[in-house]
Amino acid sequence: MDSIIVTGNGPLNGQIPIAGAKNACLTLMPATLLSDEPLTLTNAPRLSDIKTMTELLRSLGAEVTQLQDGQVLVMSSHALNNHVADYDIVRKMRASILVLGPMLARDGHAVVSLPGGCAIGARPVDLHLKALEAMGAELELKEGYVHAKAPGGLKGGNVDFPLVSVGATENALMAATLAKGTTVLNNAAREPEIVDLADCLRRMGAQIDGDGTSTITIQGVDRLNGATHPVVTDRIELGTYMLAPAICGGELECLGGRIDLVGAFCEKLDAAGISVEETKTGLKVARKNGHVRAVDVTTEPFPGFPTDLQAQMMALMCTAQGTSVLEEKIFENRFMHAPELIRMGAKIDVHGGTATVTGVERLKGAPVMATDLRASVSLILAGLAAEGETIVSRVYHLDRGYEHVVRKLESVGARIERISGQ
Ligand code: UD1
Repeated sequence: MDSIIVTGNGPLNGQIPIAGAKNACLTLMPATLLSDEPLTLTNAPRLSDIKTMTELLRSLGAEVTQLQDGQVLVMSSHALNNHVADYDIVRKMRASILVLGPMLARDGHAVVSLPGGCAIGARPVDLHLKALEAMGAELELKEGYVHAKAPGGLKGGNVDFPLVSVGATENALMAATLAKGTTVLNNAAREPEIVDLADCLRRMGAQIDGDGTSTITIQGVDRLNGATHPVVTDRIELGTYMLAPAICGGELECLGGRIDLVGAFCEKLDAAGISVEETKTGLKVARKNGHVRAVDVTTEPFPGFPTDLQAQMMALMCTAQGTSVLEEKIFENRFMHAPELIRMGAKIDVHGGTATVTGVERLKGAPVMATDLRASVSLILAGLAAEGETIVSRVYHLDRGYEHVVRKLESVGARIERISGQ
């Protein structure tokens, strides 16, 4: 298993290009299952999760071709010959459940294993299933698989989500594009990845209104056509690299960054004393002289502070002046980075979904273990600011969500290297 060695090396300066969003791409790819014409995605990120989704789509009979070193994905589902998403692939990645809605909508049947994914809580899929049932799907759970049928096709319906779920909104949105009649999704997620999916589906001929608000209305159509669609910028990769100069000092421009993708996060950076400036090409972030102030953070569905930036924000708060309270409201058990940061000298108390962080003058390098995707990158950020060497093991988590992390950080002055097989 590979490790990453980071040595604190002072301020970071320069530019980092931000890739297309993993979470958008993982929901755009299953949209190919809705049409027998090709769907082309540009600005796709090069990540192991994308490879897993490619493997899953191919196992269903879809053709997936990677062009331009994987930044362009050409997919065609004209000859689906299998409607079973197998446990061996699905267990690697929770987003696999997103093939359920499209397959069921197009062909009236699908069998999908219940997913695994990051170890950050129970993460059920009941809301996905309830939404499909509201559109007339008949579902049965057998031996770890969801068996779904809609013999006469899905029918438009009212879906009332009791809590906001990104994945369930995406599954329902895709399924509703081919359902007969009108579907209304109430209390829908408003994340930029949902808007990106709706944009792509509209290019394919779907009729969708209200994405980006909590009520989405879909008028079903008989068929969808092919399209070409650019994947939206990854707001989590963006926020992660924005934190690098905040933690280490210096000035970094994140190319392709947009304020509207990270509004609540930027408000917290501002309160912490970090400047963010919009440029023609992205967002410029600087911690010129002053210290970082402690700020409190509560994770919420978009447009609130994203749960996927909580671990990285905690790394910043470890050396801030004062005490900050971080509340995790989306996933239980999402503080697995805290004990690792403590190994580096951080002062953190975790009680249930609340972490209290008291800033220390300096973190110290230590061997630490990555436990999930966002936790791994928070340890790298902490290592960049620590005195001495930090060895982050189990970095395979990182490959799921950050392309070329070593290359990108090295190019702005970080001392970071990847070691194989340790
Ligand atoms: C997506 C992202 C993930 C991100 C999360 C929150 C993808 C592939 N994954 O995950 O990286 O961390 O949004 O931004 O895009 N819930 C249920 N029942 C369900 C579904 C969800 O109870 O059927 C609960 C979850 O346990 C959680 C909350 O709803 O407490 C929100 O989860 P959800 O928005 O669905 O997250 P994901 O779509 O899994």
